[in-house]
Amino acid sequence: PVLVVDYGAQYAQLIARRVREADVYSEIVPHTLSTQDILAKNPAAIILSGGPSSVYADGAPSIDADLFDAGVPVLGICYGFQAMARALGGTVAQTGLREYGSTEVRSEGESRSILTGTPSSQASWMSHGDSVQTAPAGFDVLARSAGAPVAAFADEQKGLYGVQWHPEVKHSQYGQAVLENFLFRGAGLAPNWSTGDILEEQVERIREQIGDARVICGLSGGVDSAVAAALVQRAVGDQLTCVFVDHGLLREGEAEQVERDFVAATGVRLHVADEQDRFLDALAGVSDPEDKRKIIGREFIRAFEEAERAIMREAAAEGEPIRFLVQGTLYPDVVESGGGEGAANIKSHHNVGGLPEDLRFELVEPLRALFKDEVRAVGAQLGLPAEIVGRQPFPGPGLGIRIVGEVTRDRLGLLRRADAIARAELTAAGLDSAVWQMPVVLLAEVRSVGVQGDGRTYGHPIVLRPVSSEDAMTADWSRLPYDLLARISNRITNEVDGVNRVVLDVTSKPPGTIEWE
Ligand code: XMP
Repeated sequence: PVLVVDYGAQYAQLIARRVREADVYSEIVPHTLSTQDILAKNPAAIILSGGPSSVYADGAPSIDADLFDAGVPVLGICYGFQAMARALGGTVAQTGLREYGSTEVRSEGESRSILTGTPSSQASWMSHGDSVQTAPAGFDVLARSAGAPVAAFADEQKGLYGVQWHPEVKHSQYGQAVLENFLFRGAGLAPNWSTGDILEEQVERIREQIGDARVICGLSGGVDSAVAAALVQRAVGDQLTCVFVDHGLLREGEAEQVERDFVAATGVRLHVADEQDRFLDALAGVSDPEDKRKIIGREFIRAFEEAERAIMREAAAEGEPIRFLVQGTLYPDVVESGGGEGAANIKSHHNVGGLPEDLRFELVEPLRALFKDEVRAVGAQLGLPAEIVGRQPFPGPGLGIRIVGEVTRDRLGLLRRADAIARAELTAAGLDSAVWQMPVVLLAEVRSVGVQGDGRTYGHPIVLRPVSSEDAMTADWSRLPYDLLARISNRITNEVDGVNRVVLDVTSKPPGTIEWE
């Protein structure tokens, strides 16, 4: 693989994605890994990510110069570039000339090496205080900017490269070209990683892991669990039983979709547990978001365990207990929960942290190495219908965390109708793929005055939260057309009793999160 060494910023994931977009397999490793351990992974190339620190800060991670003698091509980005310069004898200074945001970078002479094919002046995304003043011996300076006397360098002989800017960020106009130049020219790699390979490889691995044992998988109605289940189904067929816990917090038509469309597409054995009362009872009187999440997580595990027991009874009757549990864990979950360092717990995503410690099952996690869009591609290859594969991400706690305030049946009914209208209009406008997801939120504890017909109303607002994102780690609010927003607003206020106002959330993430709770 191409290894992306994570220096602690959020950029490492983005770099790994971009490398995969170039059809080259990549993985992220923490900077705390020793040079020896990094090299032991046999990397085809190494990319050093940006990071929050100054190379002069106390405790700033440094780079072992041995890494550059191993004959493995290396690209340093931002912090990685500076740390590389320093390790190899260049100079890095705190000049006080900070560059932040879109910055013009000019090639030294003709654009060459990793800048080949890009214009001599390009808009690039910078975020740095220190800058490289002189390149290490043997390095050729490729570009400068106003605040960076050395903005890119290369030692072609040794296969070492660096850029001050962030090529992985879309605001860097020729960022992908720079990365691909590194991968294909600098490191001599070939674009040969595809989702077809993932499918074959995973099916093989799952077969090896599970053998002829039995396995269960919880379906949430979401893309990840559906694709994970379909993969396992492809690998071991009838050894798999899926469990679908209907917690009553799903959107309109979702439970039916799982029961009908998913089963039709895969022929999987499905156990449905109707647990709506259990969840609503447990949520009665609770309005704190974290409490709600914990309760939903807890009840979910209980309901799931009960379903398991029921299936085990049947399985035992057939003489084979269940040994494995499938989880739809994705790569960002793995990085976020494993990375640990400096990663704050913003919300407890129960599908990551919620497994009981004394879990009796061995886990099967066929999506561990994948990003969301890759999961969708695999799902499509497995023949899952577009309605499942193209679904917007939907949180495990469901509508329970889209009602700000206590969750009640009435409120759920109201939110479900508003959400169905918003989704239907988005789809009718052909704009499903224009958003990453569009939470529809009910402010159950806010009321405002309105007028409808000849009368005064005193109803609740509905919030539309359409966002665009690549991996939900950061997001921007989507600029949906006004006439679409107007249609959604009209229909919701006309058709949903108790709602007299529709508002649009125009906050990016950060500082807002995507969901309201
Ligand atoms: P936030 O609100 O943290 O959401 O910006 C990021 C992404 O995660 C989804 N989300 C969840 N998914 N369990 C889940 O399975 C959860 O508790 C949860 N909370 C948020 C959210 O929809 C968005 O895609």
